Amino acid sequence: LQLLSVAAEMYPFVKTGGLGDVVGSLPPALEKHAVCTRTLLPGYPSVLRALSGKIQTARIDNVLGHTVTVWHGRADSNTVYALDVPELYDRPGNPYLDSSGQPWSDNGIRYAVLCRVAALIATGLLPEWQPDAVLTHDWHAGLVAPYLHYMEKPTPPVAHVIHNLAFQGLYPREMLHLFGLPDASFTPEQIEYHGQISFMKGALQLSDRLISVSPTYVEEIQTPEEGMGLDGVLRARSSVLTGILNGVDLHEWNPMTDSSVFFPYAVGDIMARRANKRVFQAEFGLPQKADALLLGMVSRLTTQKGADLLARVAPRLFQENIQLAVVGTGDATIMQEFAALRSRYPDNFVCHLRYSETLGHRLHSAVDASLIPSRFEPCGLTQFHALRYGSIPIAARVGGLSDTIIDANSAAVSEGVANGILFSPTTEDMLYLAIRRAQTLFRQKAVWARMQRNGALHDVSWNGKAAQYAQLLQEMSGYETIMTD
Ligand code: ADP
Ligand code: GLC
Repeated sequence: LQLLSVAAEMYPFVKTGGLGDVVGSLPPALEKHAVCTRTLLPGYPSVLRALSGKIQTARIDNVLGHTVTVWHGRADSNTVYALDVPELYDRPGNPYLDSSGQPWSDNGIRYAVLCRVAALIATGLLPEWQPDAVLTHDWHAGLVAPYLHYMEKPTPPVAHVIHNLAFQGLYPREMLHLFGLPDASFTPEQIEYHGQISFMKGALQLSDRLISVSPTYVEEIQTPEEGMGLDGVLRARSSVLTGILNGVDLHEWNPMTDSSVFFPYAVGDIMARRANKRVFQAEFGLPQKADALLLGMVSRLTTQKGADLLARVAPRLFQENIQLAVVGTGDATIMQEFAALRSRYPDNFVCHLRYSETLGHRLHSAVDASLIPSRFEPCGLTQFHALRYGSIPIAARVGGLSDTIIDANSAAVSEGVANGILFSPTTEDMLYLAIRRAQTLFRQKAVWARMQRNGALHDVSWNGKAAQYAQLLQEMSGYETIMTD
C-alpha cells in the first residue's frame, strides 16, 4: 500500500514535541507491514537543507495565490516531499511561532497550502507516484479531507490522526475563499465550528477513519469534560474512531548506543545507572548524593503538562532528601518560576530552560524517576523513554499515561508487575503525595529495582502498533491485510 502522510513536523528535521517523533518513526515501522510511506512537509529551511538527492518533481503556479515547488528526496530513513514556498516557510526558529512566541499571523494559509498540495498529490499531481491512502496528522493537515471531498476526480481514503485536540486551527469565516473552499463547506456537518472555520473539525467530519494516540484518550475526548468542544462530533463518529498507542524508535532510544549517555548500559542493567546519576548530579551542579531521590522532567513547560503544579510543589519537596532537574521550554511565567526556584534552592534544583535532545536523553539515563504530571495527555512519549532507560515514571492517571504505566499499588507490588506511579486527580497535593510514595518505594531497594526491570521489559516499540495502523489503512483502502508480526 502506498501511503501519503501529511504533517507540519518530522523528527529529526523539525520537532516541537511528540508529533514530530511519531511522524518520523512511524513510516519505517509501517514498511515492515507492506505500507510504503512518503511524507509531505512544509519546506522549512531545516527540511530543505536535510533532503538528500533532492529533485524538483513539480511546480504549481497558483496554490491559494502561491507558487509552489515540490522537492522530492530522502531524509534519513524517510522519503519526503517538501513544499518550497519561501514567503510561507522560510522562517527561522519554531515552525509555528514568531520570535515573540505568538503564532505566525498567516498560519492558516501556511497550512492550507500544505493541505491543498496534499490533495493534489493524492489525486495524481505527480508523474512518478500516487498514493492509495492518505494519513493526516493534527489540525495542520485537517483540510486535506475537505479538499478531497470537493474534488471531481476519484480520491483515495483519508485517515486522520488526532495527536492533540487542544489545537484546532480556528479561523474567521471570511477566510473561506482564501482557503479555496466553497460556501457549501461552511456547515456544522463539515468545517464550521460556532461561526468559525475549524481545520480539526473538517478532518473529524470528512475523514474516512479517525485515529487517536491511546485507547483512554479516545474515551476521554468523547466526554464534555475532555472533548474540547468536539466531543459531540467524536461521539457521532465513534464507529470509525480507533485508539492506537504510539511507539518509539528503539535505535534512537537505546542507552547502550546513545551518545548522550555518559556511561552506556544495556536496557535493564539497573546497577550500571548509578554512575550516570553521579556524573549527572556533578554536571548539573547538584550535590552527589546517592541516597537523594533524583527526579527529572523533560517537557514542554505548559499547563497541559502540569509544569505549573510542579513549580508550586517543588519547595515542599525540597524539605525532603529530594533533588529535581528540569529540561524544558514553554510558557514564560512557568519558566520564570523555575528560574526563581533555581536561585532559591541551588542544592536541590536545577533547570535548563531550552530545548536539548542531548540533555533530554541524558536525564532519563540518570534520574531515579521522571515526572509527567499532565492535566491531559493524548499518549505521551516521555513515559516510554523513562521506562526504557530505567527511570520510574511518576505520572497523572490520564490518557496514554494510564494505558502504559502500572501503578505500584500494594497488589501490583506483591505480584511484581508495577512499573511506575500513577496519581489522580492532577492537583498539587496529589502530585506531592505521589512523589512521597515514590520516596518510600525508593528506600525499598528490591521493590524499586523490580519496578525498573519491569519498565525495561515493557514493549515501547512500534511493533504491534504499526501492525494496527497497517491493518486499519489496508482495510480502509480495500486491501487484503498482510500481517508480518
Ligand atoms: P508533547 O508532544 O505533548 O509535547 P510527548 O511526550 O508526546 O509530548 O512528546 C514530547 C517529545 O518532545 C519527547 O520526545 C520529549 O523528549 C521531547 N521534548 C520536549 N521538551 C523537550 C526539551 N526541552 N528538550 C528535549 N526534548 C524535549
Ligand atoms: C501530542 C500529545 C502527546 C502525544 C504526541 C504524539 O503532542 O500531547 O500526548 O504523545 O502528540 O502523538
